[in-house]
Amino acid sequence: MTIVSQNEHKRLAGEKAIDFVEDGMIVGVGTGSTVAYFIDALARIKDRIAGAVSSSEQSTERLRRHGIEVMDLNATGSLSLYVDGADECDPHKRLIKGGGAALTREKIIAEASRKFVCIIDPIKQVPVLGKFPLPVEVVPMARSLVAREILAMTGGQPVWRDGVTTDNGNWILDVHNLSIVDPVGLERELNQIPGVVSVGLFARRPADVVIIGGEPPQVL
Ligand code: 5RP
Repeated sequence: MTIVSQNEHKRLAGEKAIDFVEDGMIVGVGTGSTVAYFIDALARIKDRIAGAVSSSEQSTERLRRHGIEVMDLNATGSLSLYVDGADECDPHKRLIKGGGAALTREKIIAEASRKFVCIIDPIKQVPVLGKFPLPVEVVPMARSLVAREILAMTGGQPVWRDGVTTDNGNWILDVHNLSIVDPVGLERELNQIPGVVSVGLFARRPADVVIIGGEPPQVL
C-alpha cells in the first residue's frame, strides 16, 4: 500500500465521522493525521456545532485556525461524542493509542464521552494488540523505574522516546515485543506502577464505533 492511498483511507474515515456529529454538539477531538481530516471536515459545518474539546496542543491549533471554539472539559462536563484515531484496533474495538504522544488527554476525553468513534485506515486492524509498540506516559523522574518494572512484569522492551515531551510535561516509553492477549488486565497492571501517568491501551474503555476508511468506508 502506498503512502498516498493510506492518506486517502484516513481522509475517507475522517470525513465519514461527520455523520455522527449532531447540531449543537460540543465535540471531543483526538489527535493525529486521521483526526486532522476530521477537523477539516468539521470546519465545513462549524456553524452547526457549539465547539470542541481538544486532546492536544496540535489539534487545538488546527481547530482554532478553522475558527472552531476550543472549550475546557471542566466547563463542558461530559460529552456526547469523541472522535479519535488509533495505532492499532482489535476485533473488540480495543485500541493502542499514543503514537502522537497525546494518550493521556485522549484517555480523559474518551472517558468523559458517551460515544467514542474511532477513525482508522485498514492497516490499523489487528487480531491481537501489541505489534505497534505500546506507549506509556511517565513522570520524568520515574522513567527508569517504570522501564525496569515493565520489563520484569511483561518481558516487553521499553524504549524511551528520547526528545519527546508530552503536552503535560512528561516522557514516553514505547514498549516493544508485546502480544497483548489480556488488554484489560495489562492496562490495569501497568496503571499500578508508581510514575505511570497513563497507558496507551484503550481496553477498559474501548471505542464504541470504528470507521475504517475505504470506498465506501466501513462502520463497525
Ligand atoms: C495520538 C494517537 C493517534 O490517534 C494515533 O497515533 C493515530 O495517528 P494517525 O491518525 O496519525 O495514524 O493516538 O496520540
